[in-house]
Amino acid sequence: MRAQAPCSTANLGPGFDCFGLALDALYDTVSVTEEGHSVTISCNDDIPLEPQNNTAGIVVEAMRKEFGIEPGAHVAIEKGVPAGYGMGSSAASAAAAAVAYDALYGMNLSGNDLVRFAGCGERASAGSIHYDNVAASVLGGFVIVGANPLHVTGLRAPPNLNICVAVPDVVTPKKKTQVSRGVIPGMVPLHDVISNVSAASSLVAGMVTNDIRLIGESLHDSIVEPARKRMIPALDDIRRMAIQAGAAGVTISGAGPSVVAFADGDANMDKVARAMREGFDAHQTECSTFACRPAGGARVLDTY
Ligand code: HSE
Repeated sequence: MRAQAPCSTANLGPGFDCFGLALDALYDTVSVTEEGHSVTISCNDDIPLEPQNNTAGIVVEAMRKEFGIEPGAHVAIEKGVPAGYGMGSSAASAAAAAVAYDALYGMNLSGNDLVRFAGCGERASAGSIHYDNVAASVLGGFVIVGANPLHVTGLRAPPNLNICVAVPDVVTPKKKTQVSRGVIPGMVPLHDVISNVSAASSLVAGMVTNDIRLIGESLHDSIVEPARKRMIPALDDIRRMAIQAGAAGVTISGAGPSVVAFADGDANMDKVARAMREGFDAHQTECSTFACRPAGGARVLDTY
């Protein structure tokens, strides 16, 4: 059984661990076949292959255990989403694995359950479970993660939403997400919380009313971005230049170091992409840019 899941951008500014958006830029594909008595992994990329350290392996093990499935499985991962750049790479593999394994055994799990299982895989790369990227990769569109108990709301993203992700050509640490989660303060002032709740609420309103200007203005994050900005010195320049070029707003993509710009359907995305490249360039960093649109969720490709 083979399934494909899209990359994603998480947080969207004020929505740390709560907001995700699936992007139709890059995809991971995972094939799961019943085989042997344990879980084995193969991959076209340099990622850990021990099932307990591999995102897709952890997901399949968790599902296998919960449903008491005796046969083992071989999980073949084709990485299309680069790992360690804030594009939800581990989440794309986790989502595709959950959807493929679900289909292999005809479980017909709900979206919420698929997200719950896919989230287990995030522990391998982030050191802790978070559901924003996996929810976007499983369900597609714009997602809001509610915790305790996990409840994921999927919304259709505005059809007039243009996105550009700039992925810098820098070496990132192996457990980059864990590292960049380590810099976030444990306690924050109430006025920063108020600012983020206000911005996050406005962002949801922008998504629901297709108001891209409001989305762009609502990307303001008073809590996480100030702590992570040191790791992305080009951020302020990229933001200024991309907005001058027609973007509605710019923020860090997930845990970075990629940066994402949102723009209206009418914006010239070549111009926005060029501005983002020039922003990184001003800090002696090359980058690749991906102009994209919101994506649908993970889907089964074929059943061999
Ligand atoms: N919400 C997560 C974080 C996303 O920012 O750490 C990681 O891609």
